[in-house]
Amino acid sequence: MKLFIDSAEIKEIEEAAATGLIDGVTTNPSLIAKSGRPFAEAIKEICALVDGPVSAEVAATDFDGMVAEGRALGGIAENVTVKLPLTWEGLRACKTLSEDGFLTNVTLCFSATQALMAAKAGATFVSPFIGRHDDVGFEGMQLIRDIKTIYDHYEELETEILVASVRHPLHVRDAAMTGAHVATLPPAIFKALLNHPLTDKGLAAFLADWQKTGQTVPRA
Ligand code: G3P
Repeated sequence: MKLFIDSAEIKEIEEAAATGLIDGVTTNPSLIAKSGRPFAEAIKEICALVDGPVSAEVAATDFDGMVAEGRALGGIAENVTVKLPLTWEGLRACKTLSEDGFLTNVTLCFSATQALMAAKAGATFVSPFIGRHDDVGFEGMQLIRDIKTIYDHYEELETEILVASVRHPLHVRDAAMTGAHVATLPPAIFKALLNHPLTDKGLAAFLADWQKTGQTVPRA
């Protein structure tokens, strides 16, 4: 499963990218606002930090505006992925931009029928928000399973499921068990993927016992 970082904070992205284990970045208008950075400047800098797809969301809600903004965003760097809302205008713009060769990410997905339509519009990615689904008493992970079931039936649907609005490592585990293609993680959750007290305890015990041998491990 590909792991993206869900942030517009350069330092957070740099730290995660340094692990060599992230495959892309997603941003959205709220994350850009939180960063306090000029939009195009931030996206250009992020695109230079990672080789993988970097999602940058349009602000327009009409077809012409979304296409114009999408083309401009796509011109910032080859790995820019134009993020579009799951509306009729957004799907029209997705179809046009995808046919023109731009990477696209249809966002704010909350139903399997929405995800089916995003795939029919040729989206590179669809972003079902599982955390926000859970927040209102629905099971976000069931949405992922339903979308995966539908997509697996039709080889012509090439859209990748990009699991978003992830709240904890169990969301990542469960998403991976569904076979979802991507999960985009807040930096803190990316870091938490490795957390386990028994790993820490076991390593401390190994090192303490090794210390007692008085030996050193040869180095090349
Ligand atoms: O990229 C979508 C993601 O940022 C939404 O997450 O936590 O605002 O639901 P959240």
